[in-house]
Amino acid sequence: MCGIIGYIGYQNAADILLAGLSNLEYRGYDSAGISVMTNGCIQTIKSKGRLKCLADKIESYGKPQGACGIGHTRWATHGEPSDINSHPHYTDNVSIVHNGIIENYLELRKELSEKGYTFTTQTDTESVAKLLDCLYNGDPVQTLASAIQKIDGSYALGVLFKDHPDTIYAIRKDSPLLIALGENENFIASDMPAVLQYTKRYILLEQNEIAVVKQSSVSVFTSEGVPVIKEVHTANWDISKAQKDGFDTFMLKEIFEQPRALHDTISPRIKTGIPTFENDGIPADYFSKFNRIKIVACGTAMHAGMIGKNIIEQLARIPVEVDLASEFRYRNPILYPDDLVIVISQSGETADSLAALRLAKSQGIATLGVVNVTGSSISRETDHCIYTYAGPEIAVASTKAYSVQMAVMYLLAIHLAFIKQTVTAVQAKNLTSSLVTAAQLTRQMLTLDEAMEERAKDYVNAHSLFFIGRGLDYCMSLEGSLKLKEISYIHCEAYAAGELKHGTISLITELTPVVALATQEALIAKMISNIKEVHARGGSVFMLAKDGMPVDTSCCDHVATIPPVEDLFTPILTVIPLQLLAYHTSLLKGCDVDKPRNLAKSVTVE
Ligand code: F6R
Repeated sequence: MCGIIGYIGYQNAADILLAGLSNLEYRGYDSAGISVMTNGCIQTIKSKGRLKCLADKIESYGKPQGACGIGHTRWATHGEPSDINSHPHYTDNVSIVHNGIIENYLELRKELSEKGYTFTTQTDTESVAKLLDCLYNGDPVQTLASAIQKIDGSYALGVLFKDHPDTIYAIRKDSPLLIALGENENFIASDMPAVLQYTKRYILLEQNEIAVVKQSSVSVFTSEGVPVIKEVHTANWDISKAQKDGFDTFMLKEIFEQPRALHDTISPRIKTGIPTFENDGIPADYFSKFNRIKIVACGTAMHAGMIGKNIIEQLARIPVEVDLASEFRYRNPILYPDDLVIVISQSGETADSLAALRLAKSQGIATLGVVNVTGSSISRETDHCIYTYAGPEIAVASTKAYSVQMAVMYLLAIHLAFIKQTVTAVQAKNLTSSLVTAAQLTRQMLTLDEAMEERAKDYVNAHSLFFIGRGLDYCMSLEGSLKLKEISYIHCEAYAAGELKHGTISLITELTPVVALATQEALIAKMISNIKEVHARGGSVFMLAKDGMPVDTSCCDHVATIPPVEDLFTPILTVIPLQLLAYHTSLLKGCDVDKPRNLAKSVTVE
């Protein structure tokens, strides 16, 4: 949420900042701005709207000539998207870009107003710019250290001080920020895709560390001013993975990357035919001590957790609860010493998921992360982390990250079942081989692209849609419905098919299309009855079924099928047509598929 970039080196900073912001725009796109050091002054240009508006403004004002600057792309929290509320926020002496929320900004404003400062924006960030100005004593590190004592909330800050034209200063707490190390140039960035075209080497800042970034050196200090030696990491993502690669949108590219992402996530974790996590640094007997599992996550990641609950309970007979992180953290959850809390997160930075993790840790409960972004806060703070290997996910709507989160849930379920001896070694091997087969069959699912484009034509003018299913298909209905609504802005609801007649069926009319997921052989008779109930009320039905299953298709208008895998593994395949359906509906409606309105990737505020 909000993207930060900073550049100090030998090239034109404005060019580098704009290029970096275009790779960070998925973190927010309400407005954008840059500040560049030019001839001893800080020149700031900012604009409401997409990055193109900023680029046009820079073009018309004349490009700032300087090699040191900071930039920002905003997802508005405090104050509407407008030129004035855009970052950077500045005074004569200092300019800052900020990601996070300053919780005590009203107190700061009051205190600073009493000292003669005036405020012109509705943002929380302006209070920090003015606080730094007020505290400034000629020493930026001391100034930032003093500011840390006065600010409550979350922040990643990139800062320019007019008196130090060859340096960018950076601090972070509970919001992501890294320092990327180039040749005779250095960067600050919210994440690596912003700078991958220049370097793969980076260092991570711990809470409240202060970075002093110059053209040919980077120093880091604690908030007490003590120098810190930092480890240099190398990103394993290359730039092509963060580009569209010939696809029109990131979302379509990422949907098509799923067979590769599943293979990369599953295959290194299979040893002698059974999943193990030893390469993830997790001891072979680690999971045997847990008698209950809590899965905590948000949005799509939470839907992967629901699949996890179903399959872990079925295979390993361990009770699993799934919680929305935003609810878990505030409901004083009951946790026992033999619980394992699993936090699933693509970005590894989602504020609520991170807070839920910290809550579990504060009670001494064992924690495990399932995370895509290497070095992210959740991956660093959990006791153990299983990385998913989706590669960078740029489209705001999650697709490939969801599939690999599910894959890890399957690996865990089979591993747990084996060590808890609810399945034999032979059964565990058969289950693992079914998982591998399902993952390979995803390639075949991509051929449904055209068919889903056809189906999407039925939905572009719909006001409301229902997704229904039972068991694992219900979990998939939730994900299919979220995907469609978030990128096409059509209202959708997901319902457990057996629950419809307890109230919601009154909403079904001939104007309410229904997507019925019917891939579970064990539940098909019940599911067909539910489909008939909606069909009888006029709702047009598109059924997603499984090849070879005896299905009465007279109750639906259209059918598509997935290959005949066991019931347990259908979600790996079902998700692809659902993603394609959402994609084409959004495209046909003329929406911005990769950057849906009001949303941003990586939700680093509550
Ligand atoms: C929906 C989507 C979101 C995220 C959610 C959690 O397509 O992407 O619902 O799944 O914001 O994000 P992470 O996984 O980064 O914690």
